[in-house]
Amino acid sequence: MRWPKGVDGLCYGGDYNPEQWPEEVWTEDVALMRRAGVTLVSVGVFSWSRLEPAEGRYDFGWLDRVLDLLWEGGVRVNLATPTASPPPWFSLAYPDALAVTRDGVRLMHGSRDTYCVSAPAYREASLRIARALGERYRDHPALAMWHVHNEYGTTCHCDHAAEAFRRWLRERYGGLDALNDAWTTSFWSQHYSEWEQINPPLATVYLSNPAHALDYRRFWSDEMLAHFREQRDLLRELTPDVPITTNYVLGHWVSVDHWTWSREVDLVAIDHYPSATGMEAAEQTAFAADLARSWAGGRPWLLMEQATGYPIGPRMYGKEPGEIARHSLQHVARGSKGAMFFQWRASRGGAEQWHPGMVPHAGPDSRVFREVTELGAALSRLPAPEAVNAEVAILWDEEAWWALQGSGLLPSSDIDYLESVRQAHRVLWRQGVTADFAHPSHDVSRYPAVLVPCLYLLSDESARNLRSYVEGGGTLIASFLSGVADEHTRVRVGGYPGALRELLGIRVEEFRPLPKPVALTDELRLRAAPQPENAAPAGTAGHAEAPPGLEAGATSSGLGDGRMWSETVHLEGAEAMARYPDGGPAVTRNAFGEGTAWYVSTRLGDSGYACLLAAAGVAGTGVPGMEVVRQGDRFFLINHTTEKQPVPVDGTDMISGMPVTGVLAPGAFAVVEARAENLA
Ligand code: GAL
Repeated sequence: MRWPKGVDGLCYGGDYNPEQWPEEVWTEDVALMRRAGVTLVSVGVFSWSRLEPAEGRYDFGWLDRVLDLLWEGGVRVNLATPTASPPPWFSLAYPDALAVTRDGVRLMHGSRDTYCVSAPAYREASLRIARALGERYRDHPALAMWHVHNEYGTTCHCDHAAEAFRRWLRERYGGLDALNDAWTTSFWSQHYSEWEQINPPLATVYLSNPAHALDYRRFWSDEMLAHFREQRDLLRELTPDVPITTNYVLGHWVSVDHWTWSREVDLVAIDHYPSATGMEAAEQTAFAADLARSWAGGRPWLLMEQATGYPIGPRMYGKEPGEIARHSLQHVARGSKGAMFFQWRASRGGAEQWHPGMVPHAGPDSRVFREVTELGAALSRLPAPEAVNAEVAILWDEEAWWALQGSGLLPSSDIDYLESVRQAHRVLWRQGVTADFAHPSHDVSRYPAVLVPCLYLLSDESARNLRSYVEGGGTLIASFLSGVADEHTRVRVGGYPGALRELLGIRVEEFRPLPKPVALTDELRLRAAPQPENAAPAGTAGHAEAPPGLEAGATSSGLGDGRMWSETVHLEGAEAMARYPDGGPAVTRNAFGEGTAWYVSTRLGDSGYACLLAAAGVAGTGVPGMEVVRQGDRFFLINHTTEKQPVPVDGTDMISGMPVTGVLAPGAFAVVEARAENLA
């Protein structure tokens, strides 16, 4: 991972789109950036039509002036290649390069992302504009980093995509026999006898083949990566000392395999927009930041975009006073090299004209800009991030998620991979336990405990990895539906959860989704230390509903109900730790080698899950909403609640210079460098 060139300290700034404004505004922009302590801005993300107004004819004059102004103002540039938004002339000249939906509808220009990554004309045009930018600005002193494209995620179903998909399949399977076997094409007469018979998963009459759909998602991740790499390699040749990245989009769908992509970028960068406000936004922020750090292999990464408000679906909620800073600090605490926003100045026109900005429509005389300025000052006092201390690993596998979003029948449509992983993370977050994420094939031996939520797909190799982790003394806590299918979505027969059966010491005969919750008999008296209730979020707004499974006022003694899912579990070496009303095992524990493997065959509420983790030896002493993250001896303390809260350390706050003595005010944050004797 590499640091943006010439940026001392943390990166602070956002997407800057000066082409939307008359030039006199640019001068004010740079003056305001200086006032706010901005160090880095992303420029040119969607500027293609202004940079290349006609094919092969360039207009760099305006961008020259912008870069010069920024340089003179002490602001460095994260210069984007504008390939996420081809100009109208491009789609008219190359209509075959426009994206086609699975229903065969060709999508026209008029928005952004109107291209097919597999179309040769688009690939050529992308390289041409990237080269023109690279050659023009390779020696510009403001150039700190390259931002290739924007949020890769656009897929297509056109003939170019079909051809590229077939090439990808040939490489993956070698021959059609292997493909037919992997895709189980003898089901519903889908056997392929020629490569040309294979299409993208187009609209069809009834359910379609899940293995086909999964490979199409894998293909797109690789195809988009090929587009990224072409630009990266070209820019690297022109500017070997300038780091190159792209910004990952996160959310309810995930377009690429981030473990693979993170090996290709010089710096992992994410965009994060919580889908809920208040405390849930803080939980989601920690989740996203921990993912980013894990993708970066524990090394620093960068929050490339967040918002000064909450653009959630059709509503633009405001952030409560202090939230902009607290969210930013969460990212920095969890290893981000700074905090960047979309966007610097709120647009006055265009599709996102009501999206919040660092400079809102009201201008700099506004609460938001004052908070932005205070945040800039706060970040300027913090040193570069160090390694974050994480105690537990949660497995995260985008392919398993894709398979659960699949196109065939699933045993229950209620299974939500993202929510299952978030629950594991959220329960730890509320107890102050910092988690890393890991791929199922990663070496996780340094973590005392590994959580495995709903890991539907599991390869033999990953199953062996988890087995040796437990053999070597680890504690594994797997929840239902993990390990039941192989990497081609084929069920592992002979009893669920196929790949993990022996490790867990059980055999599951039947899945029985639950129409309503059932009380679990906690016969071995699993009891966690009572957890404080989830504290009220700082600020007053709370537009999102309580997360599923969080009972108002619940205490976490006991496992509570099993929800949504149950199984007929037979013990084959494991012991039952909790049972269903009919006496069947619901939660099991198996001694395996030097370690222990737990299995939870139902969905628990948050307090039940916390209780289970405590019984398995995974518990923290934190107060929900009082976030504490350690980077070596440095403690990041962020109080998301409306109460003053105890903190485990005394010292001087690096941001305010004020002493911290065991408590933190409501909504406050501090960064304290602590010596051992100051630890409470
Ligand atoms: C991001 C995108 C930005 C902007 C933002 C709005 O996903 O990269 O360009 O559209 O969303 O929230």
